[in-house]
Amino acid sequence: MYRLTLVLPVLLLLALALPAQQQQSPQNSTSSAQKSTDYSTIPVSAVREQNPVKPSPESIARAKKWWRLDCAMCHGESGNGKGDTARDMKLTVPDLTDPASLKDHSDGELYYVIKNGFQDMPPEGDRIKTDEGWDLVNYVHSLAKKKGETDSKSDSDAKPQ
Ligand code: HEC
Repeated sequence: MYRLTLVLPVLLLLALALPAQQQQSPQNSTSSAQKSTDYSTIPVSAVREQNPVKPSPESIARAKKWWRLDCAMCHGESGNGKGDTARDMKLTVPDLTDPASLKDHSDGELYYVIKNGFQDMPPEGDRIKTDEGWDLVNYVHSLAKKKGETDSKSDSDAKPQ
């Protein structure tokens, strides 16, 4: 009989400790699951910033130069996220030809991401002027508008190695 009095407190302790452990593990898993869409670290002032550059054909044409130089190696010429560097570095690059990729993001957020980088996306920093950054925001939007094109047809940089 006295053995039971020894075992009972131990069982009680276990019963108290278990739920505490269970509460911790879901927190760990959500933080990694949020990786690709969590823009909450971007300052509100940047998110609300208005795009001062009209998405004119001239703006898109200016951006295309930078896109080819600094972006296509990861995002792909067409924006499908299948650039050579992305593949080599095993990066998960969003498919910008899919309108769903950008629909929840303001121009200010996209500008911030391009200028300052975000997770695996490197910053352009001082390499581009402010207007050129907004040109790129316009350009990124223009990628999603091309409907009816398939990835393989429009992606001229998908050359075999
Ligand atoms: C080294 C590869 C790399 C290069 C170079 C690169 N990006 Fe990215 N980019 C990424 C990755 C990876 C992400 C996804 C970041 C994340 O959410 O973790 C991303 C995200 C983005 C996003 C946000 C898309 C979304 O749905 O949230 C935009 C816009 C963008 N890049 C534009 C550009 C532009 C414009 C350039 C050129 C100036 C560029 N990127 C250069 C890898 C790259």
